[in-house]
Amino acid sequence: MSGDPLVPTSEPWPGMGEARRLIANARSVFVLTGAGISAESGVPTFRDALTGLWAQFDPEELASEEAYRRQPALVWEWYLHRRELVAEARPNPAHYALVALAAQKPVTLVTQNVDGLHQRAGSQHVIELHGNLFANKWLNGCGRCDEATALPGNPPRCNLCGALMRPGVVWFGEDLPRVARFRAEHAAESADLCLVVGTSGLVYPAAGLPGLAREHGAPVIVVNPQPSVLDQTADVVLQAAAGACLPLLWPQSAG
Ligand code: APR
Repeated sequence: MSGDPLVPTSEPWPGMGEARRLIANARSVFVLTGAGISAESGVPTFRDALTGLWAQFDPEELASEEAYRRQPALVWEWYLHRRELVAEARPNPAHYALVALAAQKPVTLVTQNVDGLHQRAGSQHVIELHGNLFANKWLNGCGRCDEATALPGNPPRCNLCGALMRPGVVWFGEDLPRVARFRAEHAAESADLCLVVGTSGLVYPAAGLPGLAREHGAPVIVVNPQPSVLDQTADVVLQAAAGACLPLLWPQSAG
């Protein structure tokens, strides 16, 4: 029985009691999030079928340097579409719950998401393993790239060398940003508890982080309404939507 009046005592999903106990007792928490945490904000997950005009495309076939070089206008347009979609989205109770958790104990928040919704909810020092949707960088720029011009329907190109501007996200086949990866691995190795929210666990190296935490002694909690490969690594699996479940796992005020 919990003596804390802010934490409900009922158990809407099997494993809730155990998850609450693990979180309450942890001195520090390593959190790994994926697209599922933003699903309740209306941002489609990666492995959801695309809708509308984009229904005929597979995101895995658009999110690569090869795809961009082959069809720059199409891929750039897809990223503009995603930017618009995310700009209209709002953080949901799961994003806010993680802000509340960080007010109570040391939390390292590592995300595979590029949508910036954790930061918009108020999370600080978020480690973005896959970059950010709203950043731009150059594709093989000349080192002096600065100003860019875009012809109608095309991505911007550097005025000096003609290099393509590209979104500042990590594409399939690319390495993760080194500092982000190093910090994420260090945090996974040193935390008391690992909380995994809304990821299919299919994309490495991010998908290896819960296993790393576990090898270093941290129990692992997975929150996902669907079974995922990370269930095998978990001590507790909560088959629940993040926005409904996370606010019930710890007090929502620093109190
Ligand atoms: N709450 C929690 N989890 C949810 C919810 C929800 N409301 N809705 C869906 N999910 C789960 C799905 O069941 C699925 O397991 O979120 C997961 C989303 O999986 P993916 O779409 O594969 O997203 P993610 O794991 O973040 O993908 C990893 O792959 O395409 C690349 O770089 C891209 O960062 C992305 C990476």
